[in-house]
Amino acid sequence: MDQTVDFINVNRDRYVEELKAYLAIPSISALPEHAGDVRRCAEWTAEALRGAGLQNVRLIETPGNPVVYGDWLGAPGAPTVLFYGHYDVQPVDPVELWTSPPFEATVRDGEIYARGAADDKGQVFMHIKAVEAHLKQTGKLPINIRFFIEGEEEVGSVHLDEFVRTHKADLAADVVVISDSPMFDRGIPSICYGLRGLAYFQIDLRGTKSDLHSGSFGGAVANPAFVLAQILNQMKDRSGRIRIPGFYDDVRELSEAERAEWKKLPFNETRYRKELGAPKLFGETGYSTLERVWARPTFEVNGLLSGFTGDGAKTVLPATAMAKVSMRLVPDQQPEKIAELFEAYLNDVCPKTVELTVTRMHGGKPWMTEFDNKFVRAAGRAIERGFGKAPVFNREGGSIPVVSTFQEELGVPSVLFGVGLPDENAHAPDEKLDLGNFHNGIIAAAYLYAELAVVE
Ligand code: BES
Ligand code: ZN
Repeated sequence: MDQTVDFINVNRDRYVEELKAYLAIPSISALPEHAGDVRRCAEWTAEALRGAGLQNVRLIETPGNPVVYGDWLGAPGAPTVLFYGHYDVQPVDPVELWTSPPFEATVRDGEIYARGAADDKGQVFMHIKAVEAHLKQTGKLPINIRFFIEGEEEVGSVHLDEFVRTHKADLAADVVVISDSPMFDRGIPSICYGLRGLAYFQIDLRGTKSDLHSGSFGGAVANPAFVLAQILNQMKDRSGRIRIPGFYDDVRELSEAERAEWKKLPFNETRYRKELGAPKLFGETGYSTLERVWARPTFEVNGLLSGFTGDGAKTVLPATAMAKVSMRLVPDQQPEKIAELFEAYLNDVCPKTVELTVTRMHGGKPWMTEFDNKFVRAAGRAIERGFGKAPVFNREGGSIPVVSTFQEELGVPSVLFGVGLPDENAHAPDEKLDLGNFHNGIIAAAYLYAELAVVE
């Protein structure tokens, strides 16, 4: 391992230059105009796998964006790792709030700023470089590995369940490794053992066939903007509890043991609040902030659109109102069941004065695992080597839809070892990755692939 680590140390600057080229490709899966860039990014990823010394590298088509596959299976008898990540990124708007252009990666104060730096290209690249270091230095890997890097994670991985079901042989493995989440805090590496799920919807209301003069018609018809506000207001009570009947039926309550563990984590609520710029934190009564984010479901409004929003005033009754809403789910809530409960309640609370259309968008199942297993212990040792500190165990509030699919379809456990930070600005302007964490992450990943060879 010493030689491999030396190799990683010597190549530190080259990795950053290569990562800049990766981050220059605007692989935004949500925007059709970037379809060509998404494919170019898949090809770039495949080239990086080939360059690292992986074999059987190819793009595998799906009904959506291609999956990038590459393997190295030259360690008979050793475990096989399935490394999963994504090469697609989120849109960059509002682009004027970026300090430097989102697709011209820029280093400031030891952090690299670009869309995808943390989520997830930087973290994917870390593993490619760890494998490259082993192969360049020793000509082999301690374990077998399959890279499985998708291009639709940021749009809900809609084609991936089917893909996993129909490519079980290509994905056969003993353990899944993923780096697509933040660590607990700067200097506090972590292993994540739970993710929330998601159910996302668009609500459209129509009041009249076109906008109306609010003097001539105001008072005679319902205003869809107002009706929308009234509907949304009925989704949660003032204590933050969601009012959809049956919504909490399948929520697994937090155990006292888990609550006690989380209380020991070095979480500073005042610092958290200040960093977010929030005047006061808010969440469901009876739960701490970490509990609310990691273990409780939510109902959120992601966007609202209606009526006149330009400068000045315009006396108008909008014809339509639209909201994007989503619910984060926790074990054992199922997105399909939640969708039915939500739609039934929405139909119930929506008055007959407007026409209602609900569109189901993407979703994902929540995931949680026992973490006292040999793979997690191996990851713990590797992280300690890379970061000089043993990891803490945390859950996260975000979602990675395919993780529960790996568990259900392949029966394979996942180890989530992310090196982002809570202030990484994922999905927001000025997304960044700490280059110290990137570098230590490459070393930890290289150790991980050595430690997984000797699990017991
Ligand atoms: N990297 C995130 C997932 C994540 C975020 C894990 C925060 C842990 C903490 C991933 O790229 C992501 O953004 N997922 C989407 C999934 C959705 C589109 C189904 C999410 O969570 O919104
Ligand atoms: Zn993301």
